[in-house]
Amino acid sequence: MSSLPDQSSAQNRPNWNPDSWHGMHPLHQPVYAHADDLKAVLDDIRALPPLVVPGEIDRLTGELAEAAAGTRFILHGGDCVERFDDCRETAISNRIRILLQMSIILTHAARKPVVRIGRMAGQFFKPRSRDTESIDGVTVQTYKGDAVHGFDTAEREPDPHRLLRGYFHASATLNYIRAMIAGGFADLHHPDYWNLRDMEEASRFEEYQEIVERVRDAIHFMESFGGVNRGSIRGVDFYTSHEALHLAYEQALTRNETEAWYNLGAHLLWIGDRTRHVDGAHVEYVRGLSNPIGIKLGPGTEPDDLRELCRVVNPSRIPGRLVCITRMGERYAAERVSKLIEALRSDDMPVVWCCDPMHGNTVTTSAGRKTRSFDAIVAELRDTFATHSEAGSILAGVHFEMTADPVTECVGGSVGLNESDLSRDYRSWCDPRLNYAQSLEIAFLIADQLRSR
Ligand code: PEP
Ligand code: CO
Repeated sequence: MSSLPDQSSAQNRPNWNPDSWHGMHPLHQPVYAHADDLKAVLDDIRALPPLVVPGEIDRLTGELAEAAAGTRFILHGGDCVERFDDCRETAISNRIRILLQMSIILTHAARKPVVRIGRMAGQFFKPRSRDTESIDGVTVQTYKGDAVHGFDTAEREPDPHRLLRGYFHASATLNYIRAMIAGGFADLHHPDYWNLRDMEEASRFEEYQEIVERVRDAIHFMESFGGVNRGSIRGVDFYTSHEALHLAYEQALTRNETEAWYNLGAHLLWIGDRTRHVDGAHVEYVRGLSNPIGIKLGPGTEPDDLRELCRVVNPSRIPGRLVCITRMGERYAAERVSKLIEALRSDDMPVVWCCDPMHGNTVTTSAGRKTRSFDAIVAELRDTFATHSEAGSILAGVHFEMTADPVTECVGGSVGLNESDLSRDYRSWCDPRLNYAQSLEIAFLIADQLRSR
């Protein structure tokens, strides 16, 4: 084993506290008109019960470490931004349905358990490239998420009471997910529970059904010999995540448990490509947490900076704690990802590598709509799989923005959407998502990659 390199960047940091990020000029924070109101709301949130518990978080860390070693595969996905209005029975269950459908396709191909992580139950904050936008000739703040302000242009002033509403919408969403899973929704004996309206129309639906039948047969066969772990068939674990963007909110959900600090608002927190600076407030905040931490890495990520960042976020080099999510765009994926793999390998840093093939491939059409091409998404995925494989590294999972609805937001795929189709059913409040048919199709493409590795 190579000797451990100099770790000064991590060791020279002063002691960590949940508020040690204060005074570090955090980026992308709303400015509230009344500091007293904000303080009162944060005090209320601090007194409320946690949404998740450390035992679940530690289990996820363990499963992520297994994924990094190649014995599991991670499916991380959901909407770009969650709206308070998405906190509805069908909207929640449909999001779980598509994740379960995709995960059965992946499990069947990889012959490995899939770790399911939803961008759900708290994904209420968005960083935006621009602070303001002009709508009908009026300049307003860009929309930064329902927990900050309303979408209506008349409601764009940040309102701290929305943070409390964010907490309650996250808890109602998570409560329903937990009830569905405890009540047998994820039971592999009943994949029919995961059926969606009109799903028969998706081009690869028949293949999906075949897999479901094969899995069912295998379970029945094994059960007749008493040879299956009933617990793993009856229920699945489901984890939540969101971008740790609004630091005061995240701090209010940070609790000291069993002599370690956890953010108990979600199982996994990630920091975005815009807030991952090693000297920045977001990195300072997450470095003291015991949760697994995702870091989004865009094409501007320098290998030396990443090495330093990882030393700060994961100074004890705990496997499963650091999830590097590359989102390079199809043009840069192969070249940039291989340099980052090399930088962390030479540092003996354990990393859970994931690929987000969405965020580096966003383009704006001539009509001014944000979209992503299905072909570019697939190309980035393929290149990232190949790059890891050539480097003797393991791509542990994927990260998508997707929905179970038949929206028209990303172009391409076997549904053949083109730019002129986008206006038909474009519903996203932020970034364009894969629709149901495109999500199923991409699960099959990943399944092919997993089968061949
Ligand atoms: C996102 O995941 O919605 C996002 C803003 O990602 P990134 O930080 O990678 O741009
Ligand atoms: Co997004």
